[in-house]
Amino acid sequence: MPPDQSASATDPASPDLAPFLRACRGIPGGPGDRVPVWFMRQAGRSLPEYRAVRGSGSILDAIADPELSAEITLQPVRRYGVDAAILYSDIVVPVHAIGFGVDVVPGVGPVVSDPFRGAADLDRLRPLDPEADTPYVLETVRILSRELTVPLIGFAGAPFTVASYLIEGRPSRTYGLTKALMHGDPALWHELMDRLVDLAVVSLRSQVDAGAQALQVFDSWAGALSPPVYQQFVLPHSRRLFAEVADLDVPRIHFGVGTGELLGLMAAAGVDVVGVDWRVPIDVARTRVPEHVALQGNLDPALCLAPWDVVAEATRDVLTRNAGHPGHVFNLGHGVLPELDPGILEQVVELVHAEGRCDGPFPEGER
Ligand code: CP3
Repeated sequence: MPPDQSASATDPASPDLAPFLRACRGIPGGPGDRVPVWFMRQAGRSLPEYRAVRGSGSILDAIADPELSAEITLQPVRRYGVDAAILYSDIVVPVHAIGFGVDVVPGVGPVVSDPFRGAADLDRLRPLDPEADTPYVLETVRILSRELTVPLIGFAGAPFTVASYLIEGRPSRTYGLTKALMHGDPALWHELMDRLVDLAVVSLRSQVDAGAQALQVFDSWAGALSPPVYQQFVLPHSRRLFAEVADLDVPRIHFGVGTGELLGLMAAAGVDVVGVDWRVPIDVARTRVPEHVALQGNLDPALCLAPWDVVAEATRDVLTRNAGHPGHVFNLGHGVLPELDPGILEQVVELVHAEGRCDGPFPEGER
């Protein structure tokens, strides 16, 4: 079935607005309307149908195959009945495409053969030309915008998180090299951030031009920073990133892990939705962001390995704490774990759709 591309499907004032887009905008649903739900890392990971089509090469080769990537994006929508699709791609695709020398090693993550060390490495970060460098991403988005019945979320890595891979050369626990560069050579740090913001902006804009209906920026590892350091070294860049996609008029989601202390600053980057991990309850997170900002989250993905009655109780706890607030997109606090039984996520979707409320009103003084 083709998606509803009529004006009413994207017009914020329309009652036909998709539940996911409505929640991102904080627009109340009527009684009986459903709380939208999708899962980070829903594409790939634990689905047997993913393993069946994925093959054994690098994920970057799979992403370069539009028919395959579109199929992998659609799989969780079919199986779970989620309210949004996330493009099957990766945050390192733009830096890989301009030839920085990044690969994604199974079970490890992004690995850089020749990490970023000094000013000379800035020349390795030329501007992205999406039609020439990542035509496969645009083709995947075009296929999906014909085939999907729910909105497609395009995405990019935030400059801090992408920089951490370029500098560390592989996943890190301490971000020692990244922090050393940030504090030791602030001028170079800001130049690096500028280049990475430009890459993210161009990539995000091209995804929306091709048909994506919402954008998520993953600053997955920003939780490694204190609020003052985030404010000085990251926020100005995240702010520019979001400002430069504001005219596209699609919801902008800003996500990080361990970012409880940063939620207010992440909202201040100029976004519609802030992602919350499982460490801060939704009702507490609400007090940390301005009233107009919606929240996304925040069931603990590891808790989903427990028996169903435990998962059901935790799911209900998230819904209860949200108290029918219309600005809530149900999600996990981080990505689906590879070992998770997909049947559990099917049940989570059913429960959220059956019991979630998005019609307010909320108790006086709650926000
Ligand atoms: O389902 C989806 O969310 C869509 C696709 C998606 C992938 N990566 C596919 C992928 C998205 C949105 C990402 C974003 C991404 N990539 C982030 C931000 C999200 C987060 O989890 O915080 C980060 C930090 C990366 C970098 C990266 N790529 C990591 C840490 C890994 C995992 C390594 C591993 O094997 O555990 C990857 C590889 C990757 N990206 C996989 C998938 C499905 C798994 C490996 C594979 O199938 O080859």
